[in-house]
Amino acid sequence: MSYQLNEKVLSLQPYQGGKPLEELARELGITDAIKLASNENPRGSGEGVQNALRDFGTEFSRYPDGNGFALKQALASTYQINADMLTLGNGSNDVLDLIARVALSPDTNAIMSEFAFVVYPLVTISAGAETVVIPAREYGADLSSMLAAINAQTRLIFLANPNNPTGTWVEKDALETFLSAVPERVIVVLDEAYIEYVTKDNYPDGLTLLSRFPNLVVVRTFSKVYGLAAMRVGYAISSPELADYMNRVRQPFNSNSIGMACAIAALGDEAYMRESVELNTRGLIQLESGLEQLGVTYIPSAANFITIEPGESAAEVYDQLLRLGVIVRPLANYGLHQHLRVTVGLERENERFLHALGQLGNQSFPGQKAPS
Ligand SMILES: Cc1ncc(COP(=O)(O)O)c(C=O)c1O
Repeated sequence: MSYQLNEKVLSLQPYQGGKPLEELARELGITDAIKLASNENPRGSGEGVQNALRDFGTEFSRYPDGNGFALKQALASTYQINADMLTLGNGSNDVLDLIARVALSPDTNAIMSEFAFVVYPLVTISAGAETVVIPAREYGADLSSMLAAINAQTRLIFLANPNNPTGTWVEKDALETFLSAVPERVIVVLDEAYIEYVTKDNYPDGLTLLSRFPNLVVVRTFSKVYGLAAMRVGYAISSPELADYMNRVRQPFNSNSIGMACAIAALGDEAYMRESVELNTRGLIQLESGLEQLGVTYIPSAANFITIEPGESAAEVYDQLLRLGVIVRPLANYGLHQHLRVTVGLERENERFLHALGQLGNQSFPGQKAPS
């Protein structure tokens, strides 16, 4: 080839999403499969969203409000914050990219944990910067080693709480101690994509920490508990100053009109949200006890998914589950070759997954023990 490229891009792999149901139907002719692969809300969208869609009508010829005034007002009043602290994105992945582009340049680095969400290295490398990946401790972030890795080139630290794909979490005291020790010149991105699901004690809410830590950026999304993954709406909450910079680099219409209208409706539909969290809490317990009965090890999770360890046969277990019409998520791209991630589904979907896993028999995961 004669053209020249950003060399860093050559090392990137395209993001691999969960296998779509349509693809499984095309490939294996299975039309009644269930998808537990992308941490989506299994209930579909709530009544509030359906009403908002109906009210939106069919007026598609106008550009969206590029400043997202109405959604920002709704978020500001929900969280009791100023609207100038908000940056909207085409999903929170877009917001992560905005932060990377604001903070990073060649010869700088971003620190992240091993097994952290795969988009962190993607946006870091795309911005021409280096990733500093700190080995995980019990699958979760080793905060003291992350602190120790900060150097003069460090501009960003990415921390997902809870983390995808491991479901691990950082408790309130540990997070506060960590934030107090990070120099103010380093921005901490606290990715709370799954926070609404968390029912653990001593769990931190990043929003309450923003006034103490001006270098903190909290990232959230409508893709998970709000049931709007297809609509692509995410946001960051930060100091007005950082929000201003992020808003300078974003594409003018990065949040679309229909998505924002649905997001406002979802934010106001407290019943849907509460029921979704309750369903998830029950589903996690259902999966944990089913896995324990099957003798399959899992990583305790605070989110709407659970990572299991079938062992060396993980790839085979994934394939066999596909043939039984159950799509889960392989994690080899995270270096977790012996694990699979399973999203908490509806009760009957969890049951179908556990039943399918049971059908594969002991030879698929010999000698595995559930944690006590
Ligand atoms: C930790 C984490 N952050 C961010 C995202 C991005 O979600 P979205 O772009 O749909 O808001 C995901 C999606 O899986 C995630 O797991």
